[in-house]
Parts: sequence; C-alpha cells; structure tokens
Amino acid sequence: MTDGSETLYLCGNSLGLQSLDAAAALGDVMTDWAELGIEGYFSGDNPWADYGTELRASEGRLVGAHPEEVIVMNSLTVNINLLMVSFYRPTADRFRIIIEDHTFPSDQYAFREQIRYHGFDPDEALIILPRRDEEDWHRTEDILRVIEEYGSSTALVMLGGVNYYTGQLFDMPTITKAGHDAGCIVGWDLAHAAGNVPLHLHDWDVDFACWCHYKYVNAGPAAPGGAFVHERFSRRPDLKRFAGWWGHNRSTRFQWVDEFDPEPGAAGWQMTNTPILSTAPLKASLAMFDEIGMPAIRAKSMKLTGYLRQLLEAIGTGFDIMTPPDPEQHGAQLSLRVHGTNGRAVFDILKQNGVICDWRNPNCIRISPAPLYNSFEDVRRFAIIFREALEETAE
Ligand SMILES: Cc1ncc(COP(=O)(O)O)c(C=O)c1O
Repeated sequence: MTDGSETLYLCGNSLGLQSLDAAAALGDVMTDWAELGIEGYFSGDNPWADYGTELRASEGRLVGAHPEEVIVMNSLTVNINLLMVSFYRPTADRFRIIIEDHTFPSDQYAFREQIRYHGFDPDEALIILPRRDEEDWHRTEDILRVIEEYGSSTALVMLGGVNYYTGQLFDMPTITKAGHDAGCIVGWDLAHAAGNVPLHLHDWDVDFACWCHYKYVNAGPAAPGGAFVHERFSRRPDLKRFAGWWGHNRSTRFQWVDEFDPEPGAAGWQMTNTPILSTAPLKASLAMFDEIGMPAIRAKSMKLTGYLRQLLEAIGTGFDIMTPPDPEQHGAQLSLRVHGTNGRAVFDILKQNGVICDWRNPNCIRISPAPLYNSFEDVRRFAIIFREALEETAE
C-alpha cells in the first residue's frame, strides 16, 4: 500500500499485479518514441507496425489457437460488439441468444442492444439458462437441455468461459458441440478464463471468443483485449464486418487503396492501429506465460485454490461457497456468500486488515489466489482473517 502497510492481494480476478518486466517493456517503447519518432513504426528492435502481430504466437499458446486465429485489439466489450457484427446475424426464425445466469452486465448491455439493433425484442430473444434451486452454478446437462429446446430458434450461444460472479468454469467443448449440433454459432467471453485455465479454442471448434488481459494475464489496467476467430472464417471476406485500415491486407495497407481487403484470420477484424504503450506490459506478461506454460500455472492454481477451500470448509459456518465444488469446474476464484446481513461488514474488516479482494452485491466476496504471485501462506493468512471477521460480525 502507499502508506507502507502490508497487504494480502487476492484480487487477480479483477486486476492482476504488475509483472517484473512490465516497466522495462514500457520504457523500451518510450525510448524508441523519444529516439525514433515516426520511424519507430518500421525500425528499432520492436517496430510498432508489427508490435501486435508479433504477439500472436504467444496469444495462440495462451488460448489454444493458431497464431492466425488470434489478435490483440481494442478492449473486451468493444470486441464483443465488433465480433457480433459478423457472428450474430439473426433471422426471423433464428434470433435468440443463450446466455448464463449472472452474465456480466457489460455483456448483457451489448447483447440487448445488438438484439434491438436487429429489430428484435431482448426480452423474447435472450434465453437465460436456469439454475436448480439451492445451486449457484449451472449443470452441463441442464445447459444441453436448453440448447436442445431453443436451439432451432437460436442464432448465438454465448457464455462466459468462467463466470465472473460464481467462478464456474463451463464445459466449453461439450457446450460448443451442442450449440453447433443445433445449428448455432458459439462464442465465449473469456475475461475470467484467459491466463486462469487451459484453453483449446481451435480444437474445441469455438467460432469466436473475446477476452481481456488485465485480470489473470496481468497486462495492466484497461490493457488491450484479445480476440479469436476460428480458421474456418479466416478467408471469408464475404462475412459482414466493420472495417478499418489495420484490418486491411498488410501487403497493400500503405498503398492507400479505396476498397477494403481484409487481412486473413482474426487480424481482418482489427480496424485500428495497435495501442503500443498499453500493449507493452502485455508483451512482457506473455513472455512469462510462454516461459511457465498454462499446465504448470493451472497445476499450482488447483493446489492453491484447493487449499483455500479446505481452510474455508474447516471454518464451516456463517457463509457458503457459491463456486462449484468440483475443482475441474472452477479456476482460481472462489465466491463466498456471507449469511445474514453482515456481508459488507465482513468485507470491510477484511479490507481494514489489508486484504484486497472484491465485493459484488448483494452478498458476494470474491477471492482469487493467483498462482503467479500468491503463496499458500497468503491463503492461510486470509483464512485466519476471514474467520475472525465472521466471528466479529456474528449476528
Ligand atoms: C466477464 C466480463 N465481461 C466483460 C467485462 C468488461 O470488460 P471491458 O471494460 O474491458 O470491456 C468484464 C470486466 O471485468 C468482465 O469481467
């Protein structure tokens, strides 16, 4: 903290901490800008014209995609809207969008306005997956039943790979296949999944996906987002889309032709030039993910969060865990529901004791030990402070 007091940072689900190499990567860009000016686009060690393109191999490894299928661009909600221009093409017979309960509000706003934009009624077109009483998460078999029931009138199935509120990790390959079997396009919001759990977007046959890099990828506040478009759409200039010069064919981008000729792959959706300053910390972070690899990150994450659950279960009373009990059905985050009316008071006590986590109305505290910088000792200390906070506020 700025006042020198010690903190316990368990908020990687919201904003990841700065990587050790982030400042140097940013410094390199500042130096190139100072020394090269406009020449920085095509000279220096990291020419800016290729800055985003160069990250595609690492991005591909992060989400299980071919380099051509991914792109760093814009930010998450912008990318959801942009990709929906191509992948939400409702007709009178097929206009619905299937989403999970507790879909992140930004996504819901995007879905509702996209539906209205196409002349449909969001209250009719949005199908929110039901949950069973007493369960905060969705069961895969229930999701498949809804897809079967509404699939023939559904244009798009779009869930969060890991739900922001409950922390549930969905069975993405099974749901993607069910959506396809019903003739739907299947997209994923991977804000809480990228850098948190292993992803195999290409092999799972996902149509498109978007994510941010400021949570588990640690690329800094409002870092540029990532997008995936499956290779089967790579050379489909006929797909409706919004366009701009950075998505134009690289070989003629600077020949100032009038007609848009999309670059093959996800880059064809890029539109605008890469924000170099805010992409620099991402470059540093992706190098770290390349070095460590998602399997090792996930292995430590499962142990850390498993330990957290074990300690929480030993406390037992005053709260329950909203995240599914099966470790294969969640990532780093556990969502805790404090019983009674003291949730906010518990959260405030955590804060007074240096714990940085987050609160989601009406009664949810999200805790996310991030394997890249949290330790088992952090988890143990949290459990002690949490137990004391529950005792202090017991009604
Ligand atoms: C699941 C999910 N979707 C969308 C967003 C919105 O992100 P942005 O403001 O980068 O568009 C967030 C932000 O936390 C999120 O968690």
